[in-house]
Amino acid sequence: MTYPSIAAIPGEQEPQLVDPIEPQGPESGEVLCETIYLGICGTDREILHSASPHVPFGAEQLVLGHECLARVLEVGEGVADVRAGDLVVPAVRRPTTGATTEGIDAFKLKRRPDMMPWGAYVERGIVWEHGFSLPQWIDRPEYLYHVPTGIEEIAILSEPISVSEKAVREAEQAQAARLGEQEWLANPPRVLITGMGPIAFAAVICCRARGWDVTVWGRDSEDTFRAALAREFDATYVGLDGLSFSPANVEQDGFELVLECTGNDRVMMRSAGLLAGCGIMVWLGASRLPQVSEFDVNQIMRSAILGNHLFIGTVNNAPQDMQSAINHLAKLNSQYGGAIAKMITQQVDPQDSLWHYTNRVPQGIKTIVKYAQWS
Ligand code: BGC
Repeated sequence: MTYPSIAAIPGEQEPQLVDPIEPQGPESGEVLCETIYLGICGTDREILHSASPHVPFGAEQLVLGHECLARVLEVGEGVADVRAGDLVVPAVRRPTTGATTEGIDAFKLKRRPDMMPWGAYVERGIVWEHGFSLPQWIDRPEYLYHVPTGIEEIAILSEPISVSEKAVREAEQAQAARLGEQEWLANPPRVLITGMGPIAFAAVICCRARGWDVTVWGRDSEDTFRAALAREFDATYVGLDGLSFSPANVEQDGFELVLECTGNDRVMMRSAGLLAGCGIMVWLGASRLPQVSEFDVNQIMRSAILGNHLFIGTVNNAPQDMQSAINHLAKLNSQYGGAIAKMITQQVDPQDSLWHYTNRVPQGIKTIVKYAQWS
């Protein structure tokens, strides 16, 4: 059976099932892959909500799907890094082939793709290139990451985990640059993660892989599935009233690292009050909805200056982050494999997936779309 693609169409907020594009190739230096699993994420929902997807040049729709587990079917001449039968996870972002880069400073085009400005990159399934909701597609080997044996069922989480990996790595690097390599190695940061979506749980995985103590703050009550799942990772879960956002002694009761995954300005502003000296907050979640401002931003800024805080915005990932995500899944598999697998809360076939592109299941974390068997 050939499954359909899931497409975002300009002017429409609902996704559509469409006939898949037939791949041509693989040519020399290319790889033919088949999709096994796709992950649905908030970005897919935002693309649809906007009703203005960034469709590839000359196309009428954008084929969605950027979180993917795939199998290599065939390799073109000269491809040595991957072989038929390998399981892989593709990178989302790549440099453009040039057509849209007019007006962008040349030095910015030499940056790592995740640090490039808008216009200099494409993202498969998101920006100007079709994604992976396709039974088969062509790629280049440098964008494919090997999945080791044993993590086949959870490797679909690699891409969202890599986004959190980047956030954590940037915080580590910033801290090492200003306080020395030993600072967080000798004194692991206390971490607060705000939110209970896939990126928040991905952040839990990144921090637990480093052996750090984690507190997760969310809106759920203590007896919910997601609160219990946070605890399965040996994180402390605190609900709405469980955390004082203005502790009397922030050095004692605060956090060295806050990973903000809600995208909610109220949560962000309040959790800024929990940063201990030299603390770092990384923003990973962004909300598309404009919010009413109700906080004393000046005070936050003053604390940031006097407390040497860093606020970092991060997006996408570096190749090393993709690799870390996969390595950390493999590393944590024996201890937390069961908990990680529980993050996949729904599994649907492509033709039953459309509802999930515009709705969330209560207590759901990650819905995956199944195109093929991995074994
Ligand atoms: C993806 C990233 C991407 C970002 C912005 C996220 O959902 O996981 O790879 O860079 O959206 O488009």
